[in-house]
Amino acid sequence: MNAQTDKPVLPHSDYRSSHLEEGEDYHAKFEEQVYRALIWSLEREALGALIAARPDAGRARLLDFACGTGRVLGALSRHAGTATGVDISASMLAVAERVAPGTELICADLTRESPLKDRQFDVITAFRFFPNAEPALREEAMGVLARLLAPGGSIIINNHRRAGSSKHRLRKLRARLGIAKAKDLHTMSDAEVSTLAERHGLVVNNVRTLGFLPVLKERRPLLPRGILLRLERRAAQVQWLEELGSHRIYELRHASPAAAR
Ligand SMILES: C[S@@+](CC[C@H](N)C(=O)[O-])C[C@H]1O[C@@H](n2cnc3c(N)ncnc32)[C@H](O)[C@@H]1O
Repeated sequence: MNAQTDKPVLPHSDYRSSHLEEGEDYHAKFEEQVYRALIWSLEREALGALIAARPDAGRARLLDFACGTGRVLGALSRHAGTATGVDISASMLAVAERVAPGTELICADLTRESPLKDRQFDVITAFRFFPNAEPALREEAMGVLARLLAPGGSIIINNHRRAGSSKHRLRKLRARLGIAKAKDLHTMSDAEVSTLAERHGLVVNNVRTLGFLPVLKERRPLLPRGILLRLERRAAQVQWLEELGSHRIYELRHASPAAAR
């Protein structure tokens, strides 16, 4: 927490350089850390369902922006006609070559270069990017993705730092007690997602909420995986618990009716 402004400190001043040295260790967390792996299995289900519900399922041109190690790209490529991943980090992409074989991988910063030229995509995903990125980068990236989105297309982003969630509330309480790390208090709200989308001619069309339990120790949570999974699935069916989910997936579409079709 910044003592002068009482605002959470951003984890990165320029998120572009955050993963330039990362790769296998980052990827392994989604298999080895019990709660992170559980949330990823639920996210995979939700993503698969969103894409399967599209009229172009199996044929869509997929772009995974900030694809990192190819986690999302590898899981979704079989639901797509073509699959392209772009990331600024060569070391993250080196892992993606193994995790997402047969996909097109491009090392670039789409906010500063245009390797995709005038190509268009039906489905664009961006996971673990927007909540982590600083406001200026969020803005630039959403502008680029909106321009790359084909008429009738969907941008699907996640927010794993959702403001007001049970996890965020617990972290705020810990901060008051002096035992939380400042970077953990950084969040993104639903309103920030909606207004970011609106500024780029997009609207939130659909959401899925996950991660209801305030689990801070993703590696070794206090409850066994099977029980956590049952509780998460049960909580997802209770509407008044929506507010507490720390992970949310948003499907964005063009706001103008002509481009939304
Ligand atoms: C937390 S990782 C997420 C990777 C992957 N999407 C996932 O969910 O596992 C964030 C990624 O954003 C990438 N990144 C940051 N700024 C970028 C930019 N301007 N253009 C492309 N990639 C960027 C980083 O290199 C990093 O691989």
